[in-house]
Amino acid sequence: MQKIIILDFGSQTTQLIGRRVRETGTFCEILPYNQFPERDPDIIGVILSGSPLSVYAEGSYHPNLDPIVGHYPVLGICYGAQLLSQTYGGLVESAGTREYGRAMLQEVDGHSPLFKGIQAPTQVWMSHGDSVTALPKGYRRIASTDSVALAAFESMEAPVWGVQFHPEGEHSLMGRQLLENFVVGICGSRREWTNASFIETTIAELKAQLGRDEVVLGLSGGVDSTVAAALLHRAIGDRLHCIFVNHGLLRKNEFEDVLKVYQDLGLNVTGVDASKRFYADLAGVTDPERKRKIIGADFIKVFDEEASRIPGVKWLAQGTIYPDRIESGRGNASGQGSTAVIKTHHNMVKMPDDIQFEGVIEPLCDLFKDEVRAVGERLGIPAELVWRQPFPGPGLGVRIIGEITEEKVRILQDADAIFRDEIAKSGLARTMSQFFAVLPDVRTVGVMGDHRTYEHLIAIRAVTTDDFMTADWARIPYDVLARISNRLCNECPHVNRVVYDITSKPPGTVEWV
Ligand code: XMP
Repeated sequence: MQKIIILDFGSQTTQLIGRRVRETGTFCEILPYNQFPERDPDIIGVILSGSPLSVYAEGSYHPNLDPIVGHYPVLGICYGAQLLSQTYGGLVESAGTREYGRAMLQEVDGHSPLFKGIQAPTQVWMSHGDSVTALPKGYRRIASTDSVALAAFESMEAPVWGVQFHPEGEHSLMGRQLLENFVVGICGSRREWTNASFIETTIAELKAQLGRDEVVLGLSGGVDSTVAAALLHRAIGDRLHCIFVNHGLLRKNEFEDVLKVYQDLGLNVTGVDASKRFYADLAGVTDPERKRKIIGADFIKVFDEEASRIPGVKWLAQGTIYPDRIESGRGNASGQGSTAVIKTHHNMVKMPDDIQFEGVIEPLCDLFKDEVRAVGERLGIPAELVWRQPFPGPGLGVRIIGEITEEKVRILQDADAIFRDEIAKSGLARTMSQFFAVLPDVRTVGVMGDHRTYEHLIAIRAVTTDDFMTADWARIPYDVLARISNRLCNECPHVNRVVYDITSKPPGTVEWV
């Protein structure tokens, strides 16, 4: 299949470039800046990403562009454009201060195929410290803003383009058009990458690879593992064995509800209620990292025990998706010169120790989240699962501060269910990325009727974010907050006070621990 290669110089928006390319119906791969796969006949074009570095910074990335430039159409974005200019004899200079935010392209050259159908003035998103101030010989300017004369340029001799702004950002209003001009108009994409074709090819590949082998997969209730299971089930039917573990830290009624959905989907699924074991191992433990470790270790043990009951199981399947691979440094700039590894990823389950698997099957490892959702919808997975907000692997374990007890889990489950119910009723659910209740280890004095109470404090958290690396707290209207607070104090027997967390990330994180 035709593909675009995106070379990653470490920009936080590299993945966004990938998503935009996919939206044109074209497959793409994000690779470390220095790992261009020279002999891949499917490559139709190359995009050089932005970078937090200046081309002059010590340790900045200067890969050999010779196997690329002149051989494939190339689009350099921000750092990528500066690198092209610098490499071929142009000039890059520091703008003194960093230009960050919206800017207007005042002039664009409609003759350039990159700007086909795009008219000035048009808004773009800038985020740069350096600028290209002189072009290499044989290059010409094709767009400018008030402050950046060379906002875009092209070579008159080779298929090379550079843009100082970020067409992948939402605020570049013509960005999608520009990327489509590059990918489809210039590189000649046949737009072969569609959800339907993905489903069809993946099922055929899984059938061919797995034959009559037995496969085990751990379901989490999240969209990724569910879609992976649905695809595998289409390929190998009941030879896919799913295991859904209740660690006792799921949301209210979640184990039963989700298990029912899995059964309705026809999956061969075993639900294992291991809550008691988790509660026992967590008794008396207050340190957040220790709690996470215990939950993780117990989870693997339970999964292992169940998996080893399946006779002849050969493969372990996982719902790993493309950003998981990138963030964990697998499949992109793992070593130097890449997007910093922000967090160790949790969706990648460790291989069970005492089962010898032939290998790991990851049918979604090339997909972005929105593509996983679209595939899920196409496979007939119910909307509430496809659009479910992210839920951490350790579940409510990271939302109960201090010791985890069965009683605290129940209080938090009740409070969380009420909070989510009110958000759903207010129609705000889709405006937020994540919303949940937290049980800090805090009791406060209150008065109910004529009685003094000394009960739990509930904190509610709701955030909006594109990528979970940064987040803002959601501006829930006061009247909705008032209803939530009323219901929590009235309907949760051990709650007498409610606070709303108004911390963005940074400095806070989304979860409390
Ligand atoms: P933080 O708290 O790091 O959360 O700002 C960012 C996103 O990651 C989720 N998260 C986790 N997910 N295991 C998971 O599977 C974890 O240990 C974990 N910690 C945080 C969090 O819910 C948010 O979506």
